Amino acid sequence: MHIEREPEGVRAASRAWRRSGECVGFVPTMGALHAGHLALVDRARAEGATRVIVSIFVNPTQFGPHEDLAAYPRDLEGDSDKLRAIGVDLVFFPSVAAIYPDGAETFVTLDRLPEHLCGLSRPGHFRGVATVVTVLFNLVEPDIAVFGEKDFQQLRVIQKLVRDLHLPVRIVGAPTHREADGLARSSRNAYLSASERQSALCLSAALRQAQARVTDGDRDAATLIAEMITLCTDAGGRVDYVAVVDEDSLDAIACIDRPVRAILAVFIGRARLIDNARLVPRGGPETLDTPGTRP
Ligand code: PAJ
Repeated sequence: MHIEREPEGVRAASRAWRRSGECVGFVPTMGALHAGHLALVDRARAEGATRVIVSIFVNPTQFGPHEDLAAYPRDLEGDSDKLRAIGVDLVFFPSVAAIYPDGAETFVTLDRLPEHLCGLSRPGHFRGVATVVTVLFNLVEPDIAVFGEKDFQQLRVIQKLVRDLHLPVRIVGAPTHREADGLARSSRNAYLSASERQSALCLSAALRQAQARVTDGDRDAATLIAEMITLCTDAGGRVDYVAVVDEDSLDAIACIDRPVRAILAVFIGRARLIDNARLVPRGGPETLDTPGTRP
């Protein structure tokens, strides 16, 4: 497995593969890799990638001035071992100067999608994400790129920018990878003490509770949100937001009469954790197996 630091190097490798008929899959990451990241590599292959490139770049432009850029976990050696073990072909590990040439002043911004959820609590975050992902796509020139549903708003931002800018890459969304007790895997889980790790279960517990309510026939988003906030606060979390939104526009939904997303961000100690889940009302489009329709 080759570790490439130079933009021209990754582009040359990707172009050579594509010229010889290979399908290049790409998984952008910020490193401190866990099983959720590795599942994206598997997914790229399942979608047809014959070569997989993983980038590791802690992107400064997506962190706010008071966020955890300096503290963000970094472990190139451990990451390389994990990626080598699953047969990744190339790791792109650029410097900040390689991605943002001296004096860089061009950014990719979306008008509406960042005006929700994490975009409100993290001004400029999605501008940084959209910019770096566009730069990475321009360097790697992948056929397929895989992103996790764990960062649901990010997935939507990337799908939108690829559509709006006519970028020639197919975006694939992969389900959230969880630990056995339900905690969504995240590089930021490394910040949690043992007791905070226990409190952090409130995010997935709140989502499961919301799913159960909706399955039972509850439709009122405000009631569900209030219950989720209570559950997280009682567990010692500091709620940033809890929302029930349309899966495409991310606009808030009042009545759950179709499949929607519940999304939340909660501080556990100094770690800001996010999670989300689909809520499917009974009798909704995904549970149409009404009596009599089965053979
Ligand atoms: P990072 O947080 O390292 O995540 C890299 C990719 O892994 C993202 O697509 C993210 O959604 C996915 N991921 C993280 N945890 C996951 C989990 N538990 N299950 C499934 N997928 C998971 O997201 C970023 O980096 C950055 O914003 C990036 C896109 C690389 C741009 O800098």
